[in-house]
Amino acid sequence: MSVGAHGYPDAVAGLFVSFEGGDGAGKSTQLRLLADWLVARGERVVVTLEPGGTPLGTLLRTAVLHGDHIGARAEALLYAADRAHHVDVVVRPALARGDVVLTDRYLDSSVAYQGVGRGLGARDVEQLSLWATEGLLPALTVLLDIDPVAGLARVTGEPDRLERAGDDFHRRTREAFLARAAAEPGRWLVLDATVPPEELAAAIRARVLGLLER
Ligand code: TYD
Repeated sequence: MSVGAHGYPDAVAGLFVSFEGGDGAGKSTQLRLLADWLVARGERVVVTLEPGGTPLGTLLRTAVLHGDHIGARAEALLYAADRAHHVDVVVRPALARGDVVLTDRYLDSSVAYQGVGRGLGARDVEQLSLWATEGLLPALTVLLDIDPVAGLARVTGEPDRLERAGDDFHRRTREAFLARAAAEPGRWLVLDATVPPEELAAAIRARVLGLLER
């Protein structure tokens, strides 16, 4: 066991990759394409998501996305609770087994949406999630960057609470993702989500291959 950059213990044998981006950026398509490629290479892969990667998380997801009004702090705590449990019962056990874990959203969503979008403060929200997860960060975070108006236009079905938060909110979250990626380029791969899915998939595979070969 080693100690990670944030001073928390890091016991990670597998590879942890998160996908981030605005709503409608195509994260789930890319996640699926990457998972198929990894499985074909003989890797053990766990595909998961936040919020909602566990039975408790499913309840929290319904509450936070489809419930009545929730204040910004309660919202941040619900996402953090989902994340704490998800990391504890799904992500860390899989990484300890040496699996590749692909998650549709992780801590950076909380920093962008609650920290910046809701104005709670990026640093406080990041600290909350680092506490919740005992400092677990992905080796790679893929940002599928898209103009929020174009992204939301691709979303089908009734918009959830976050999707209804307004253009200005979504512009701020986009800027927050881009700023985090620029500040920590070693962890991030930023891609223009409007390029054809196969090209995006190839770029993601190239970066993941580098990590697998390490
Ligand atoms: P997602 O599952 O990507 O939405 P969908 O399945 O509708 O495409 O994420 C649900 C919403 O939750 C999304 O609008 C982003 C938001 N979210 C946060 O605000 N904070 C968080 O920490 C996470 C993980 C998601």
